[in-house]
Amino acid sequence: MSEENTTVLQCLSLNHLFTKIRDKDTKPEDFRKYSMRLMTILTEESLAVANNSVTKKTVITPTGAKFDGIDVNTSNMVAVSIIRAGDSLLECFLNVVPEAAVGKILIQRNEETAEPILYYDKLPPLENKQIMLLDPMLATGGSAMCAIDVLINKGAEEENILFINVVCCPEGLKNMNSKFPKIKVVTACIDECLNDKSYIMPGLGDYGDRFFNSV
Ligand code: PRP
Ligand code: URA
Repeated sequence: MSEENTTVLQCLSLNHLFTKIRDKDTKPEDFRKYSMRLMTILTEESLAVANNSVTKKTVITPTGAKFDGIDVNTSNMVAVSIIRAGDSLLECFLNVVPEAAVGKILIQRNEETAEPILYYDKLPPLENKQIMLLDPMLATGGSAMCAIDVLINKGAEEENILFINVVCCPEGLKNMNSKFPKIKVVTACIDECLNDKSYIMPGLGDYGDRFFNSV
């Protein structure tokens, strides 16, 4: 991954959606509603960035005019969620790409050390697939890098992995960049930094707890 491999969403609607989900007073049902709206936009943008799957396509409109567009081939896509928070993004992704094969990797960040602990993985065949790795938060990058290790050990090609993310930070991106320079990232926002507890600042708190209302 390098800077040109990172896409940051540029949509006017994001400011409103982020204001809702960053607000500590937003109720759990509203956090879920607005984050899903944001993640639906994120999913659509990610499909356009998965360049192994995108080809040029010209169509004729009902007016008889030509329109030069693109076609996204979703038939080779595998969506992999990093449980638990990644399951929220998986739900949005499958609403847009219901035909995707699905894999799951359960990783829990140690609350004290922020080190990732890998518990479980269940994955479909990964060779030559376009892999959409899903986790709304990238802080130290430890969990995502642990998941990418699993994917590569199970046959994925690094250049075919696209990491889809709601909020990341420079530290996490830098760590991923050094270890996996070919990974592509689509994120809705690069925040400022990590705090001393390895939480993203300004961030939005613990995404999984807020989305699943388990605070
Ligand atoms: C969160 C988040 C990422 C990870 C990011 O998950 O969803 O997986 O932390 O932090 P990192 O980049 O420093 O590894 P967490 O382990 O808290 O579990 P959850 O999904 O159950 O909330
Ligand atoms: N996980 C989260 O949910 N939020 C953070 O800020 C960092 C890790």
